[in-house]
Amino acid sequence: MKLDGQVALITGASRGLGQAIAQALAAEGARVACLARGGAQLDQTVAALTASGATALACPADVTRESEVEAAVRTTLERWGQLDIAVLNAGTWLPTPITKTSEAQWDQLIDLNLKGAFLALKHALPWLIERRRGTAVGIGSIGALVGQPGSSAYAASKWGLRGLLESAALETRKHGVRVALVHPHNMNTAGPPIAPGSPERLRNVDPEDVARAVAFLCTAPDHVALGHLTVWPIAAGISATMAAP
Ligand SMILES: NC(=O)c1ccc[n+]([C@@H]2O[C@H](COP(=O)([O-])OP(=O)(O)OC[C@H]3O[C@@H](n4cnc5c(N)ncnc54)[C@H](OP(=O)(O)O)[C@@H]3O)[C@@H](O)[C@H]2O)c1
Repeated sequence: MKLDGQVALITGASRGLGQAIAQALAAEGARVACLARGGAQLDQTVAALTASGATALACPADVTRESEVEAAVRTTLERWGQLDIAVLNAGTWLPTPITKTSEAQWDQLIDLNLKGAFLALKHALPWLIERRRGTAVGIGSIGALVGQPGSSAYAASKWGLRGLLESAALETRKHGVRVALVHPHNMNTAGPPIAPGSPERLRNVDPEDVARAVAFLCTAPDHVALGHLTVWPIAAGISATMAAP
């Protein structure tokens, strides 16, 4: 397994894409620290990972609170002594046109999608740099590549994330630490499973499809930088101009 001996911290790992990423990295041999706000869902995810043979740890923390993120990183280091991979996945989406977006909604998107990623990156990176290798992966969106009418605040948060990570890549390359972004689009995290062969199948990807891309980035040879990786349903094509409405 390509990640044997490595330790990964994944934010937003109690369900959805984060859970699938934890499974995918564990399947490659990584020990996985699962960060989400504490609760039954996080406990169940970690229990399921452990039952499947993974080495997993629950790190209850709110990514928008620096002291909690710092404590989650510390807990991971106290348990396993190292950190090799940080996946900045915790995030949410709100369909709100600009004139209807409340200040509270704006703050929620920017706090979770951007500040949360910043805090996790800030506290994880020193440990990757210390090892002079490792991978930080941000979970962007098609909204990080083109404007999204009706979801402007979300797009602003994801463009911010892209700016943060592209800057981080330039700061960390001299330390052998790579930074990448995976951009999902139309990912079926909430709905029922999609039947093979149905029209919906062509219009949606599963969290496991995106998680596979994250594992691909993390298992690339250390000297290879992989930048932006889009994982879209086949109906969306391969560029943002094709996918845009
Ligand atoms: N679904 C899509 O089609 C799509 C498309 C493009 C991009 N994305 C991106 O993919 C990522 C994952 O999306 P998803 O669909 O898997 O979302 P999801 O199912 O809603 O899961 C979100 C995860 O984030 C955690 N979380 C929420 N607020 C948190 C906080 N304050 N602190 C710590 N953890 C928190 C949640 O756990 P708790 O509630 O237990 O804390 C949960 O584990 C997001 O960044 C999203 O923007 C999704």
